[in-house]
Amino acid sequence: MHDMDRNACLLGFMGTGKTSVGKVLANTLDMEFIETDDLIVKKAGKSIPAIFKDDGEIRFRELEIAVCKELQDVRRSVISLGGGVMLNYINFLYLRQHSDFFHLIASPSTILARIMQDGKDKRPLLACPDPLAEINRLLYLRKPFYKIAGAREILTDDRLIPSIAGEIATIMKGHEGCE
Ligand code: S3P
Repeated sequence: MHDMDRNACLLGFMGTGKTSVGKVLANTLDMEFIETDDLIVKKAGKSIPAIFKDDGEIRFRELEIAVCKELQDVRRSVISLGGGVMLNYINFLYLRQHSDFFHLIASPSTILARIMQDGKDKRPLLACPDPLAEINRLLYLRKPFYKIAGAREILTDDRLIPSIAGEIATIMKGHEGCE
């Protein structure tokens, strides 16, 4: 398989830029853009906040696992992984064969600012009285899960989307020709 058939999987906390960077990256590399959250919404026939509210987080995580399973044979795509995908190692196992992983990182204050811009109702886990405290708590709990084998760390604070996408594109293109 030519290495440019590989996927770029973007992982990391909410508000680290996976969606916006992923779209630009897919365009740059002429790849499909796929988002696990979109596939979950399609599967469930309702929004993410509605899934959390009606069915609970565990059901959401089950849907996330089902979606990652369906993506195991996908190639040549940029896949933006919801912030909790890496909490279940099975998801990494489904995706790893054809994917390179990039861990997008941002400081808690950057995350808060970006989430507030999007509207925090879109992120049920942060729809609480003190979202900054919750961001810090979740980042601490999730740190080991985001440090999966081989994920390149990409810093996103104070950077423009094209620059972050460009950094990842250069790494992906670096694989070209080295089978
Ligand atoms: C979640 C992140 C969200 C979405 C859901 C849960 C999480 O995706 O999957 O609200 O557990 O971190 P984004 O990281 O794309 O915001």
